[in-house]
Amino acid sequence: MDKSITVNGLRFSPYLDREQIAAEVKRVASEIRRDLEGRRPLFICVLTGAFMFAADLIREVGITDSSVAFVRYSSYEGTQTTGEVKQLMGLKEDIEGRDVVIIEDIVDTGLTACKMMEDLGARKPASLRFATLLHKKESSRTGFVPDYVAFTIPSDFIIGYGLDLDGSARNLPDIYVHEDYDN
Ligand code: IMP
Repeated sequence: MDKSITVNGLRFSPYLDREQIAAEVKRVASEIRRDLEGRRPLFICVLTGAFMFAADLIREVGITDSSVAFVRYSSYEGTQTTGEVKQLMGLKEDIEGRDVVIIEDIVDTGLTACKMMEDLGARKPASLRFATLLHKKESSRTGFVPDYVAFTIPSDFIIGYGLDLDGSARNLPDIYVHEDYDN
């Protein structure tokens, strides 16, 4: 049976299902717990794409004495990066002396990740770590290496579980890949 779906006129096929995602979220959560047990971490969820991953990950990490904040950056239009990273919503919280974990949906060129590490690193956290659901290692233009990665994937275009195509498809519980993606 063909389980492909069409979003905004583009065809996507199933790629990672909810059970695979849950298993890797659990693994990453245990790595974070091992590193930050006994501390008071501040999780910074990068809107909008990471909202679902962050909700699952933070619950799974299970450190009660932790807090959550949100930032928003943008670099994508449709299925392509613009190469220019804009901060759309900054952080009001004071992060000086805090153990910060940035939670991102996907690292593609690494430009957004580098900009965030630079912006937040300048605010003197005690430590700064980066967790991502997906890492398109071959697309890197920066050599940025995340501390925690749920899945390393090829340079395809992905939707679902928080990731969008022009705002659509974030609600899908599974992850789908664009069938004829031309990078
Ligand atoms: P980077 O700055 O090139 O690493 O891109 C990071 C941002 O681009 C992510 O936070 C996503 O919002 C977006 N992005 C990159 N690849 C994809 C994809 O395959 N699907 C949906 N959004 C993507």
